[in-house]
Amino acid sequence: MVKSNKLACIVLAAGKGTRMKSSTPKVLHKVANKTMLWHVLNVAKSAKVQEVVTVVSPDGSQVAKAAEELSSKTAVQKKQLGTGDAVLAAKAALKNFNGDVIILYGDCPLITKEAIKKLLKIREKFDIAVLGFDALEPGSYGRLVTEGNELKEIVEAKDATKSQKEISLCNSGIYALDAKLLFNLLSKVKNNNSKGEYYLTDIVKIAAEQKIKTGYAVVDEEIVQGVNSKAELADAEAIMQERLCIKALEAGVTMTAPETVFLSADTKLGKDVTIKPNVVIDENVVIGSGVSIGPFAHIRPGTKLGNDSKIGNFVEVKASTISEGAKINHLSYVGDAEIGKESNIGAGTITCNYDGFKKHKTQIGDNVFVGSDVALVAPVKLGKGSIIGAGSIIVDDVDDNAISIARAEQKNLAGRATKYRKTKKK
Ligand code: UD1
Ligand code: CA
Repeated sequence: MVKSNKLACIVLAAGKGTRMKSSTPKVLHKVANKTMLWHVLNVAKSAKVQEVVTVVSPDGSQVAKAAEELSSKTAVQKKQLGTGDAVLAAKAALKNFNGDVIILYGDCPLITKEAIKKLLKIREKFDIAVLGFDALEPGSYGRLVTEGNELKEIVEAKDATKSQKEISLCNSGIYALDAKLLFNLLSKVKNNNSKGEYYLTDIVKIAAEQKIKTGYAVVDEEIVQGVNSKAELADAEAIMQERLCIKALEAGVTMTAPETVFLSADTKLGKDVTIKPNVVIDENVVIGSGVSIGPFAHIRPGTKLGNDSKIGNFVEVKASTISEGAKINHLSYVGDAEIGKESNIGAGTITCNYDGFKKHKTQIGDNVFVGSDVALVAPVKLGKGSIIGAGSIIVDDVDDNAISIARAEQKNLAGRATKYRKTKKK
């Protein structure tokens, strides 16, 4: 069968995910601050698929909504009758599609575009391509029964013979084949197995009986491992963080303790960025070139750090734009703020952005100097070039180039300390 250039993708996400012990659907749990579904759809996108169908369960409206927001179509699998039935649920959504289909699982967020490339390479030589992996503990995985470079059959552990169970080459559940062929083979799958399910894996044997050939490629287990529990979610997080750190280091980011840094899957990093130990960067953060962050800093969603800006120890920044060369060096909270170029925010400065009902903005111009321990009660504006005295509580806007001091005046009482001590001593 000639391989067409068109690609579609079916993402299976109708499983119950009961072992997550959560009211959040399994595939909406996050790895590196992005849902597992996001990761899978992102890899599909990078493989240049034109159409994606995410298969959800009848009570999967939350998953369907998330999938649609990520430009995937959705299909509902009425009853969880097995992986074969789940793929069939996507048939109607792909009825006008001619080309190859890649099948992925929504709960395998560690899949990479390199693995998909490997799969498609095999597909160039075979009618069906399957990704396998050498399992450390093959356990309940389907086993790949091979003959040379050909895959003859996938047997589920429960239905495997003793000798088949000894095979360590396992099925990842990731396939590529022509859409028409897929649905044709699926129409022949029966549920006469130990689970009484329609196994997608059966298409390989049915194809072989018709002299339709299946090939396979082997990838690292880590890439295709699924997430079924919170422990496995934590495992996936650790692997993803390591990958993100390696990618950042390779791109020239300096990190002295990368194992203590948490990046998001979508973190954008410029050139010559330094990230010191114990820094957490949430989703939707853009970091310019020459920026230094940490140690112990939390950069929250919607933050943009301009070139050569500096975020120091124990600083939290949320939904703020910090312009070029601005510095927030110590112990600050900056939220819903814009800080102009080269401005300096003193130690302990807080933007009081929340009045208990609404969030308000703080606007700070270029070249502003904010002394230490200032409370900026938003909404408030500090004009460019202004100077704010340490310890001030600023509730009104400050004009360009003005000095503003808002604190109680100091009284010095000569000799009073000595007197005071005497009254305390008996
Ligand atoms: C499946 C494979 C097995 C493979 C393993 C890899 C079959 C029959 N077996 O087994 O060979 O080694 O994956 O992890 O395919 N799903 C639905 N609807 C269903 C059933 C499943 O959407 O009715 C989805 C699940 O949400 C999940 C994926 O399909 O994302 C795999 O289902 P799961 O039940 O975990 O399959 P396994 O039995 O583990
Ligand atoms: Ca599974």
